Amino acid sequence: MSAHNDSGHAQDHAHAHGHQHGDLDWEVMAAHLVNSGELQLPVLRRTAGRLSELLGPEREVRRVLDIGSGPGVMTCVLAETFPAAETVAVDGAAALLTHTRDRAERLGVGERVAVRHAELPDGLDGALGTADLIWSSKAVHHIGDQQGVLGALAGALNPGGMLAVAEGGLPTRFLPRDIGTGRPGLQARLDAAQEYWFEIMRSELPGSTAVVEDWPAMFRRAGLTGVASFTLLLDLPAPLGEAARTFLHAQLTRLREMMSESLDEADVKTLDLLLDADAPEGILRRTDAFLLSATTVHTGVRPV
Ligand SMILES: C[S@@+](CC[C@H](N)C(=O)[O-])C[C@H]1O[C@@H](n2cnc3c(N)ncnc32)[C@H](O)[C@@H]1O
Repeated sequence: MSAHNDSGHAQDHAHAHGHQHGDLDWEVMAAHLVNSGELQLPVLRRTAGRLSELLGPEREVRRVLDIGSGPGVMTCVLAETFPAAETVAVDGAAALLTHTRDRAERLGVGERVAVRHAELPDGLDGALGTADLIWSSKAVHHIGDQQGVLGALAGALNPGGMLAVAEGGLPTRFLPRDIGTGRPGLQARLDAAQEYWFEIMRSELPGSTAVVEDWPAMFRRAGLTGVASFTLLLDLPAPLGEAARTFLHAQLTRLREMMSESLDEADVKTLDLLLDADAPEGILRRTDAFLLSATTVHTGVRPV
């Protein structure tokens, strides 16, 4: 929903907040992350398929790491895509790892999915072991030294192994420019508010280090070769189904809670209307809401 297309930044904020004050409602967060992941399933499956193609049929994928795995939606997709591998979900939130375990059992891949509780960058010193594929989506930006993390992840690859990181992409779009209420262009202003918040979030991380977020260049500096990027689209046109509406309602709720200080009164009022479950103009009922998001994945290979 922001320029970093993090489903989102709002939950990033809650994550950081949770670490600082220990008051995060993980069940609400987990439900939102699962809903978001399941909406993205077609994209996640295509992504895993693309990674398998890039690795090539010759490559035996025996171990996969999912760094910052959340509730494990992609972890399970990776386990399905690489049936000869052990897939390890790594996250700093124990509650989300429990969801990952349950999901893996339910989907019949429980025997090949392991979970590892680690607050990165601790644990990047070799404790996670090596892998043929390391996947990380929207987690590297939570760590102060992003270049340092990429270096450590590249170092954990077996020779010929691949690092794939989903960062960047485009801000998600879900409303027309003019929604008939308030000042047109609300989404652009929400993006700007999230950019502002994101900058503060990053500056407050331990060991926060500024870096030009040129991901391919960062991959090359981490010693990886064959660096490339691809972008996949999730395109759910209006009228939306219930799951997508629930997702957008949760996103807007978080934006309302966290970013209202950066928005003017009129935009806050518009957000309140969008959140009203009974109003025909609310996001749960309006007919013009859609969901369009672009996820960019950067890949690189550890030289043999
Ligand atoms: C925005 S969520 C992304 C979840 C999932 N990868 C996805 O794309 O939907 C970020 C995840 O990274 C985890 N995370 C954030 N900072 C972390 C850290 N320093 N160490 C380990 N995990 C972290 C959070 O707990 C959360 O599950």
